[in-house]
Amino acid sequence: MAILDVLPYPNPFLRVRAEPVESFDDALRTIVNDMEETMADRDGIGLAATQVGLGIRLLLLSPYAFEREEGEGKPNYVVINPEVIWESEEREMGEEGCLSFPGVYISVERPLQVRVRAFNQDGDPYELEGEGLGARAILHEIDHLNGVVMIDHVSHLQRSRALKKHQKNQKALAR
Ligand code: NI
Repeated sequence: MAILDVLPYPNPFLRVRAEPVESFDDALRTIVNDMEETMADRDGIGLAATQVGLGIRLLLLSPYAFEREEGEGKPNYVVINPEVIWESEEREMGEEGCLSFPGVYISVERPLQVRVRAFNQDGDPYELEGEGLGARAILHEIDHLNGVVMIDHVSHLQRSRALKKHQKNQKALAR
């Protein structure tokens, strides 16, 4: 197992559209394990493969996103080749963070509920539903697989504020 580097914005890889996973093999299992270790190390509730420089449609979601403290100790959701099959018309604003923008939080409007069809790491299909933070986390991570990041969802002004904060944080981290 290994902890992977999480690419900070504006790494060009964060703009790549990831390709579907085709082989559910040991190599994939290793990637999933490494990403799980990386997400735990960074205290994230979600991580997309594109954030660690892999152009495949794979993301992880922590059970915390769906169950809060109740989810502690439960396995992560391994979400492969996800497809949104339904989202609610009702939307809500909520605070969002991202491991590619450490320390930056912005308000983003997202559907309140979402249903996704995906495959687990054994290649078995399943459906996953999220509401509130769960829906937000699913959609945020699917965005990453399409080269979209959270600042793409906000106004020009909010975007420049977030980027300013991000640049300041990145400078502090580099010191
Ligand atoms: Ni993110």
